[in-house]
Amino acid sequence: EEGLHPTKYPWVHAKWVKTFDHQALRRGFQVYQEVCASCHSLSRIPYRTLVGVTHTVDEAKAMAEENEYDADPNDEGEIEKRPGKLADYLPSPYKNDEAARAANNGALPPDLSLIVKARHGGCDYIFNLLTGYPEEPPAGAVVPEGLNFNPYFPGTGIAMARVLYNELVEYEDGTPATTSQMAKDVTEFLNWAAEPEMDQRKKMGIKVLVVTSVLLAISVWVKRYKWSPIK
Ligand code: HEM
Repeated sequence: EEGLHPTKYPWVHAKWVKTFDHQALRRGFQVYQEVCASCHSLSRIPYRTLVGVTHTVDEAKAMAEENEYDADPNDEGEIEKRPGKLADYLPSPYKNDEAARAANNGALPPDLSLIVKARHGGCDYIFNLLTGYPEEPPAGAVVPEGLNFNPYFPGTGIAMARVLYNELVEYEDGTPATTSQMAKDVTEFLNWAAEPEMDQRKKMGIKVLVVTSVLLAISVWVKRYKWSPIK
């Protein structure tokens, strides 16, 4: 059973001449970190990839250092803890899937690294899902115990409750943290997480277009020049 069709939005980063809005990515990371990270992992993202995208080297290092990771076994074979470094991946909220389910009524919060690519509707779906919880389920809707009504979720009964509310986070750039602003920012950030190479790809695409256009112009000119005595 399919969910309600998500409304389409004009995502700026989806335009072929536009790169991601990095200020939005930084806000989106903040939302992930302060809201989503307590239940969802982002296991494909090492701290180093944030450098130059959402954070400076020093900021990324400092964030990595706030976590503990297993050190290599010492001479006695004991594994001690060490602070994180840039090469480490963002930590997962749970030890394993079993612990994750136990904490979420049996439901597994999926890893969000590729979720924008994995779900039909991509950014539009994620945004609509996050902002689409009605105050009350519509009359007649059957919502199983422990689930929440969301018309965009296939089946409409979702284990995740509404998580975003106005002013839930405080943005350092002064952007008002409305529900929809946070949903937009975190969605864009998750799109970056799924396609961190997108900016590069677009810049390269534009270079390829410029270079091939110049080559085409030259070859047209050469052809006309060489053939001109024959006319
Ligand atoms: C599922 C995003 C916060 C628990 C999901 C899904 C997405 C998502 C995209 C997948 C829906 C699908 O399968 O199509 C987010 C984002 C969050 C956030 C962007 C932060 C803004 C949380 C929090 C919790 C949570 C804080 C726990 C308190 C879950 C659970 C599921 C889920 C249990 C599985 C739902 C089911 O299969 O019924 N979330 N989430 N999420 N999320 Fe979240």
